[in-house]
Amino acid sequence: MKNIFASAAAILALGLISAVAHAAPILDLKARFHPVMSETGMVVSQEMIASRVGSDILAAGGNAIDAAVATGFALAVTLPRAGNLGGGGFMVVHLAEPNKTITIDYREMAPSDAHRDMFLDKEGDVDNQKARFSIKSSGVPGTVAGLIHAQENYGLLSLKQVMQPAINLAQNGFAVNADLSDSLQSIGLRLQKDSASKGYFYKADGEFYQRGETLVQKDLSKSLMSIASVGREGFYQGKTADLIVAQMKRSGGLITHQDLLNYKAVEREPVCGQYRETKVCTMPPPSSGGVHMLQMLNILEGWDLKSMGHNSADYIHRLVESMRRAYADRSLYLGDPDFFPVPVAQLTDKKYAAVLRSQIDPDRSSRSADIKPGLPDQGGTPKATKESTETTHYSTWDQWGNVVSNTYTLNFSYGSGISVAGAGFLLNNEMDDFSSKPGAPNGYGLVGGIANAIEPGKRPLSSMTPTIAFNSEGKPILATGSPGGSTIITVTMQLLLNVVEFDMGVADATAAPRIHHQWLPDNIYYESGVSMDTLNRLREMGHKVNNKTSRLGATESIQRKAGTRLFGAPDYRREGSGAVPQAH
Ligand code: DON
Repeated sequence: MKNIFASAAAILALGLISAVAHAAPILDLKARFHPVMSETGMVVSQEMIASRVGSDILAAGGNAIDAAVATGFALAVTLPRAGNLGGGGFMVVHLAEPNKTITIDYREMAPSDAHRDMFLDKEGDVDNQKARFSIKSSGVPGTVAGLIHAQENYGLLSLKQVMQPAINLAQNGFAVNADLSDSLQSIGLRLQKDSASKGYFYKADGEFYQRGETLVQKDLSKSLMSIASVGREGFYQGKTADLIVAQMKRSGGLITHQDLLNYKAVEREPVCGQYRETKVCTMPPPSSGGVHMLQMLNILEGWDLKSMGHNSADYIHRLVESMRRAYADRSLYLGDPDFFPVPVAQLTDKKYAAVLRSQIDPDRSSRSADIKPGLPDQGGTPKATKESTETTHYSTWDQWGNVVSNTYTLNFSYGSGISVAGAGFLLNNEMDDFSSKPGAPNGYGLVGGIANAIEPGKRPLSSMTPTIAFNSEGKPILATGSPGGSTIITVTMQLLLNVVEFDMGVADATAAPRIHHQWLPDNIYYESGVSMDTLNRLREMGHKVNNKTSRLGATESIQRKAGTRLFGAPDYRREGSGAVPQAH
């Protein structure tokens, strides 16, 4: 025993000595969890092979955008439940030269034959089966257009170069990890209903792949090759487009050749706001994520959170009350800005935040039922689905200071479950992110109304919140984001606050327990690790604290500290994630 203490003391002493000896210690000695470090570039994603692909692209002379595009295509092979060709997403890009931040909106669009009531049954109720699991649940995919837009406009390498690793992984196969094996096992019943999905993701006898076995995806490799050789036409026209439309005809789907031709990825100005010293740039509508994260940060900025202590009851109370108000507003004001005038400036105005803050009692919880706006006919407390959900976030950073924060998705885990036969990829079920009926909850318990009603060519409202934060000199200091449906916004905000308000290293900030509230249902979701004393105090304040949840989100983040050093933090809430520094 004595020896252990003696050696622990010696290690501590050594640590102190080395901290004194080096003016800039290599490790963040304040951190309890170990980030991955790099002095050049870094890729952090939910799946290790894809992170390596991105990192290799950096080593081959690519920039952060090349790495992001390569990682995105690789995840479409190695993380089929969320990585995709048949879905959509958002990318925030910081360009070191000319010191500018842009966003790429490659969210799915509703097909031209879509209409407001398409998911209502004869009684006028939402048919959730149709909205979430039928071929009609698929919007026109945007991922290929989005990744190619990024590559063509901001990459250094050729599309072929950045896509080759994904093609190789699909063609030659890769070793299935425990996470993929488990998820294919648990989703088996749903995925095997579709014969193409069954063929692509299960063995001939219907058995699922075990850890270490090789998954080969020949049809997917052909789709990838046609994109690599001719660009977006290789997906939105030609054979792949024919296969998508044939799939629609066979199963009663809506997407036509014209819809595919019409699909556009759009560059939009980021929404940026100031939280104390930190500038935060994030995704504007059709994501609700950026607007509401900034709105909540504006409310929170008015309190001395640091002195309350991280995850104290006082702190969580203020988080929850800010979340409650932001999500109430989300239900009324947010939708696709090309179709609905979203009041972004008003929602992110510091004066509006001050009004909301003044309505928050520092000692008592409010009740969601009393918080406006909310639609008058919302009809009871919606419940979030039990269906497992999946989106994925990744971050890339290069030696020149270019940064990418990207979140993309099929919506639910494995999307609609329906694959395009012959083309090797799954279709999204993103149409469920629209508000199918005013006040009726979607798959995440989120309600909405006219702003987010279905219209042809419109993009469903999202919560995805890819984010880049900057220090007072305008230098990027953090790239982050998360999956998790409605919880994405609150998870991303807590990661950011952990870093900029509570001075945590990015790995500690990732590991720290999270909470979530979304106005409806009126309940605090929390991860294990929030103390019982805190939970009890919150109950005494009047909060409903019943939803313990195994995990909230999965941030895959990169932090830049002094000089050029990068610290990557994969989120182990989802197995298989990895941070890979650029090899020299
Ligand atoms: O865009 C959205 O907000 C949702 N479709 C995201 C889905 C999601 O995060 C599922 N992941 N865990």
